[in-house]
Amino acid sequence: MNRMTANQLRRAWLDFFEERGHTAVPSSGLIPHHPTAPLFTNAGMNQFVPYFLGEETPPYRRAASVQKCVRTGDIEIVGTTTRHLTFFEMLGNFSFGDYFKEGAIKLAWELSTEVLGFDGDRIWATVYLDDDEAEEIWHHTIGLPAERVQRLGEADNFWEMQKGQPGPCGPNTELYYDRGPEYGPEGGPANGGEERYLEFWNLVFMQYNRQPDGSLTDLPSRNVDTGAGFDRNLALLQGVDTVFETDVLRPLLACAERLTGHRYASDERADVSLRIMADHARTITFLVSDGVFPSNEGRGYVLRRIIRRAVRHAYLLGVEGLVAPDLVDTTVEVMGEAYPELVKNQGFVRDVVVHEEERFRRTLEQGTTILDAQLDQLGEGDVLPGSVAFVLHDTHGFPLELTQEIAAERGVTVDEEGFAAEMAEQRRRAKEARKAEGADELAERFSELLEQFGPTEFTGREEYESKARVLAVLDDADGAVSIVLDRTPFYAEAGGQVGDTGTIVSETGRAEVFDTVYGAPGLVRHRARVVEGKLDPGQEVTASIDGDRRDAIRRNHTATHLLHWALREVLGDHVKQQGSLVAPDRLRFDFSHYEALSAEEIARVEDLVNREVLANHPVRHYETTREHAEQVGAIAFFGEKYGDIVRVLEAGPHSTELCGGTHVRALGDIGPIKIVSEGSIGSNIRRIEAISGFGPIDRLRREEACINRAAQLLGVAADDLVEAVERRVAEVKALRDELKALKRQAATGRAGELAATAVDGIVVARVDGLDRDAVRDLALAVRDQPGIRGVVLGSAPEGGGVAMVSAVRPDSGLHASELIAEAARTIKGGAGKHAELAVAGGKDPSALDAALAQVRAAAGLPTVP
Ligand code: ALA
Repeated sequence: MNRMTANQLRRAWLDFFEERGHTAVPSSGLIPHHPTAPLFTNAGMNQFVPYFLGEETPPYRRAASVQKCVRTGDIEIVGTTTRHLTFFEMLGNFSFGDYFKEGAIKLAWELSTEVLGFDGDRIWATVYLDDDEAEEIWHHTIGLPAERVQRLGEADNFWEMQKGQPGPCGPNTELYYDRGPEYGPEGGPANGGEERYLEFWNLVFMQYNRQPDGSLTDLPSRNVDTGAGFDRNLALLQGVDTVFETDVLRPLLACAERLTGHRYASDERADVSLRIMADHARTITFLVSDGVFPSNEGRGYVLRRIIRRAVRHAYLLGVEGLVAPDLVDTTVEVMGEAYPELVKNQGFVRDVVVHEEERFRRTLEQGTTILDAQLDQLGEGDVLPGSVAFVLHDTHGFPLELTQEIAAERGVTVDEEGFAAEMAEQRRRAKEARKAEGADELAERFSELLEQFGPTEFTGREEYESKARVLAVLDDADGAVSIVLDRTPFYAEAGGQVGDTGTIVSETGRAEVFDTVYGAPGLVRHRARVVEGKLDPGQEVTASIDGDRRDAIRRNHTATHLLHWALREVLGDHVKQQGSLVAPDRLRFDFSHYEALSAEEIARVEDLVNREVLANHPVRHYETTREHAEQVGAIAFFGEKYGDIVRVLEAGPHSTELCGGTHVRALGDIGPIKIVSEGSIGSNIRRIEAISGFGPIDRLRREEACINRAAQLLGVAADDLVEAVERRVAEVKALRDELKALKRQAATGRAGELAATAVDGIVVARVDGLDRDAVRDLALAVRDQPGIRGVVLGSAPEGGGVAMVSAVRPDSGLHASELIAEAARTIKGGAGKHAELAVAGGKDPSALDAALAQVRAAAGLPTVP
């Protein structure tokens, strides 16, 4: 056995095959592209499917790879065993019509015994039931004794990407390593059990293509696809019992130990949680790095479940803080050298996962309390009502699987049928609600029209005005009508592009179309108002769109594609479209990204797109097969369904996407593009708005007018505006200060006047217009005048409210706050408790006179001055 580290094994594998005429091909991403592919890349062969199917000619006949893979089919088992993983790497070698069975088996034998140093006497092989040829090779060419070659059926020795689904497939032969009697009974892989006989390499003889009806046809050539589980082989080479003890997973397990304070191998239940955290850490980090975001559907939902599962197991072990940062960082530490994209994306991956963890933690606390209370009333073998699972799902975001998992820990199952019934009931209610709005009836009419006449022919790529025939005029609930034509230049809202507006004119009437949408898939519905006469089914009409408006839309639409490309250039490949709006006056583009764009990034994006525009590259827009579109690397627009024939838009040399919208003919037609806003619209989703064509010119003009007007007001040239404003601001501040000082001075001057009004050494007066500080200064000045014992001044300042200040001499026998205690209540305010100086602020200026009268009474003075 040759001891190797993970990095050494990856290198040794590729070196071995490169020396034997193979091209080392980098791992493909975890999001596969071929239509037959599963949700996530699940084997080394995924990226080569077009070669096996003969859809594409491979640039090499032999290849080898180390492929990152995710399989979540048996996620419930992961953690409960020491063998199952959701993320793993697959070592593989491939032949595209080159060597076949003999070549593949010989290479596998040589590498196993010489590079890995496996003991040939402990290697066993299995072959497919009727595969005499493979058995012969093992026996005669390799020299494996007949008893160490066993035959197994379809389940073990026939391989396909997804069981029973269309795609390339074939019989296989598997290599097993006998770990010795201490791991289980004898009898080889067919009888002895998986612990003792560890499968370490699968060689698939790719020769069939599974058809949609389930039958098998021959592939154009006979190929080889092999896969060796990296983690298993590493465990064998490092002499450890399980995949969790290699130099790859051991550090992740240690991270989980650190986070939870539980030691591995001391408690079986805790071990399950620790293994889940260690395994899921890699799956989460790699998926997010490859552009999957937590969401409620598809891949995003699987990711969300995996994150939640990891977090919940940390929570089970009593962890209160966040686990995501450490799990992600440790994964990057361990795997970053082999997968540099992880290092590049680390910050962003951490942000995404932490955000999801924080969100889930809140849910978890609430939901767990409810579920625990329910489970406390049940015992082992009981069934949790579907309604409980539904409430947890509906109001607390608990996926059914999570409820099931938690219940299972207490031996309780969940009534899945009851849950499904509640879900169905909720859908029914939603449908009822829609019906009540009358939407369904109209939808039915459109479906009938579609069935009767087929889809509307769209003429609007070539012409803005078309002759057409009216198929139907339906009354809409809002007084408008819906017009259906056999053909139309009107673009119906789709793919973010708004519908066209324009007119439909017949001999007898004229309608103004204010919006165009799909009534049913492919059936264009012109929402219109009849402004003259009437329109009838069967009539010939001229349908014309507002051409200027459409031109503006076209510019913004092609600009959207350029922006998408440029955002990926500047921010990275994780940028994915999440939605868009293409209108005549602006475009809006939502995309995945984890932080605000800096001014510099925005400028770089703008520069990139405008450079493309100025280069005036041609725009190509054509129909093709989905396969070809994939070959040219077209990015599909988010959330859209495409048939087998798709439209590809090449907006210059860099941007290639699927898109059915309408576009300019050359990039120069777009005119300038300017981003006008940037912000967040949800977790890790940013939105930019931009304008193009005349938009930036209009905006420039408006801003210019604004600047000129401001300059005019300041009496300077526009170029000197900023300086002039700065000067003006400084001037205003100086004047304000000066004014304040003067006001105080004037107020102090009044002190003498006020002192003259003293009765029994006490002044009570109203001094409106002064703010609280000024009143206080004045009161202190009055108090210091000769013969004065105390003073109370009230003011209704300009800004609103009331200020009252009471100031007394220490030897006066008066108490400042007592003097105004009652008055303060009258003006609806509060006063300080100080004996010599009290300030009261109130809300009610209309009560000030009454309040001052109360002060006079409190001081024993006549209440009217
Ligand atoms: N594609 C084969 C597997 O995944 C080699 O086992």
